[in-house]
Amino acid sequence: MTRQTAFTSNLLLWYRKNARDLPWRQTSDPYKIWISEVMLQQTTVTAATPYYQRWIKLFPDVQSVARAPLQKLLHTWQGLGYYQRAKNIHRAAKLIVENFEGQLPSAPDQLRTLPGFGPYTTGAVMSIAFGKRHPIVDANVRRVVMRILLIHGKATSAHDCRILNFLEEHMPHKNISSFNQALMELGALVCRSRTPQCQLCPERKICQAYQHGKEEIIPTPQTKPLEDVHAVIAVIRRGQKVFIQQRPEKGLLAGLWEFPGGKIDPGETKLGALKRELREELFVDLKSVQHLLDIRHFYTKYRVHLSAWNCVVNPEPRADEKHRWVTRAQLKQYPMPAANLRIIEQVFTGPQR
Ligand code: ADE
Repeated sequence: MTRQTAFTSNLLLWYRKNARDLPWRQTSDPYKIWISEVMLQQTTVTAATPYYQRWIKLFPDVQSVARAPLQKLLHTWQGLGYYQRAKNIHRAAKLIVENFEGQLPSAPDQLRTLPGFGPYTTGAVMSIAFGKRHPIVDANVRRVVMRILLIHGKATSAHDCRILNFLEEHMPHKNISSFNQALMELGALVCRSRTPQCQLCPERKICQAYQHGKEEIIPTPQTKPLEDVHAVIAVIRRGQKVFIQQRPEKGLLAGLWEFPGGKIDPGETKLGALKRELREELFVDLKSVQHLLDIRHFYTKYRVHLSAWNCVVNPEPRADEKHRWVTRAQLKQYPMPAANLRIIEQVFTGPQR
């Protein structure tokens, strides 16, 4: 058996002392590790933790996911974003029940056949759940290794070949789960993107970025501005109910429920956009409006400016498969994008009522 490199022993020692006590670190159940890793691809540990705990309580195993209606899964996922991932979990769970007796397979080429199992998720489940020697490269790992090796440039997959070579050289033959999680943990807690804490780093003696005083400019900081999107939202009420509709099955936030509305076209006023959207989406005329609130919401690539309006329309829109009149209590059964949730709070508790 090959001996550990200094890099690896420093890392594992640091991890033993500094690892956070996270709920998915108290299990070796491949199902739970899979769910945690999918959640962690899109958000921080702090944000993912309550979602993970709620999910595992409602769906303790693969079978319970396979049996659940998609809407219930989406509702539990609500607020995490990237809803396609929840749909993939549903499809994968059904396949695991059908083809693998409800147990995640431990062979990487079988895992890779499941929806949503790309290199990251496959590597994470293989190494963390099954203890197999599989590297994983996420944003934290990429940043750590780019700094250690003084790889200039943006943090993109263009550097992954060198990063994987480095990981291959240093990955131990046991404790793979700790090795991979330690790299991510170091990136999250110490080797942070904007404020690296090199004084706390177990690898600073071998870190070339630190040695050259370049830790703040490696990787090249992201400067790409977010694209601004302006949209209007119509809140239509009937007594204690509001009107919502389901988004198309494909595209951004697919299948979630929302208030009617849409993007403001170039040169259009907010009211002009409201009238047009209501006519196009619901075949109704806008009779009167009252401004409700404006909010900003940040997605990976967009900064969305939403302007929500209380609207009186004629005729009253009709409910069908994809359109519903719902009370506040009923709204809980309809998965909605996070930005809509903030509007709901205002609709039911704001000064208008
Ligand atoms: N990010 C992704 N997976 C992680 C894990 N298992 N521990 C810490 N951060 C992570």
